Amino acid sequence: MVRPYAVKGRKKPKKRPRVEEEEEEKEEQQQEENDEAVSEKENEETLENEEKGESTAEDERKAEEAIEEMPGIPIAPRVQDPKKKPGVIFVLERACLEFAKVGKTYQILNSDDHANFLKKQNRNPADYRPDIIHQALLAILDSPLTKAGRLQALYVRTEKGVLFEVKPHVRMPRTFKRFCGLMLQLLQNLSITASGKREKLLNVIKNPVTRHLPVNSRRIGLSYSSEKMVQMRDYVAAASDDVNLVFVVGAMAHGKIDNDYTDDFISISNYPLSAACCLGRICNALEHKWNIL
Ligand SMILES: C[S@@+](CC[C@H](N)C(=O)[O-])C[C@H]1O[C@@H](n2cnc3c(N)ncnc32)[C@H](O)[C@@H]1O
Repeated sequence: MVRPYAVKGRKKPKKRPRVEEEEEEKEEQQQEENDEAVSEKENEETLENEEKGESTAEDERKAEEAIEEMPGIPIAPRVQDPKKKPGVIFVLERACLEFAKVGKTYQILNSDDHANFLKKQNRNPADYRPDIIHQALLAILDSPLTKAGRLQALYVRTEKGVLFEVKPHVRMPRTFKRFCGLMLQLLQNLSITASGKREKLLNVIKNPVTRHLPVNSRRIGLSYSSEKMVQMRDYVAAASDDVNLVFVVGAMAHGKIDNDYTDDFISISNYPLSAACCLGRICNALEHKWNIL
């Protein structure tokens, strides 16, 4: 059976109370719903073949191909030799990705579905906005810049300080529900790998993010509150291609990013923008600079 995200072995204890087992079964079932490995049809076919004992190398090859083609699968085609050309690194700070046990299952908290739960705990529902990081990631991963292989690295740090890397060729779930399922899996298991491949597509890594940045990099923090207002296209056009550009953008609803590890701190508009809009502007400016259509 082909599955999209392989999570390393969870061993079940031999004997446990029935209620606990049932709960675990339910959780596993929900997690499998988040998996986008195989369409139901593929799944049925694979199962049928397995039952008949006809699982051959040819089947496996076809399944691999199907994974590459199916929407929502976290693997996108790689672009050859992206290292030859200058690229960009993004750090998305203060992403709101917190999970808790709501009822019987663990869930990523959000202001729409968990308002009562959050209020009962004297927490402000308005602070729980995982949709911001979802849209921000899609803005980067969907951009022609990324498709052209110029996304060098992408890091996300949550409000709680969990830092993880997103590989540029990951195909992020497009719906919010499936995105939350994937993020929950990541935060619980610390990495997500594609089936049949060892590479970690999403991986929790050690803080601080600066230890993962290239030596020769220029870190640029973005905030509406910065006094240095720039025209993004001119700003990136003036930057040398020999320096690695690192853009640090906030993925939270309120407040601003820490600028303690940035070399520059800029505002790119007279208006407060969404993180996704901001990232779109950066990508667009770099596409213009590097002639990516
Ligand atoms: C939803 S906003 C957060 C709002 C927050 N009040 C602020 O501007 O920092 C998400 C992120 O978008 C970026 N951003 C929004 N408007 C911006 C602007 N006019 N110039 C530069 N960055 C901006 C910032 O990095 C910000 O952290």
